Amino acid sequence: MKTAVMFAIAVGVAAGASAQEKTAFPTPAWSRTKAAVQDRGSAVERGGAVFNNWCSACHGKDVRNAPGTVSLEYKYQGKSPAALEDRRNLTSESVKLFVRKGVATMPFYRKTEINDADLEALAAYLTQAKP
Ligand code: HEC
Repeated sequence: MKTAVMFAIAVGVAAGASAQEKTAFPTPAWSRTKAAVQDRGSAVERGGAVFNNWCSACHGKDVRNAPGTVSLEYKYQGKSPAALEDRRNLTSESVKLFVRKGVATMPFYRKTEINDADLEALAAYLTQAKP
């Protein structure tokens, strides 16, 4: 019985690992924005993928289960949009500062997680001109 369970777990783990190898950048389960590939496309497109992978879990547009969005909704009380992707007043410098330093319950990100090029793309995505 015990052996059968161990075997089932081993097979499950192996299947999971091979499924991951096929996609270079799988869409994370918490994704709330359109997935793109982090190393392809324009800076804005690449930044959108970085956002999707690292930020959307907390800063998704839907406030449900998005602690960053909820927190910013409370902070700005309607004076500024709660979702980062709807903001028009973010600067590249401020995005980079918050990402490298973190704030409140937001973690800071190391260069081994989001490298400088990815951070530039992320800043381009969040500061892009909006209609
Ligand atoms: C674990 C949840 C979490 C993750 C992941 C997260 N954040 Fe945050 N973020 C927060 C919280 C909470 C705040 C603080 C809001 C406040 O001051 O009330 C915040 C604040 C910010 C602010 C400051 C906005 C303002 O006007 O004060 C920026 C910019 C920001 N986050 C960008 C990002 C980016 C870019 C990423 C992805 C690299 C990210 N965050 C990932 C939770 C998160």
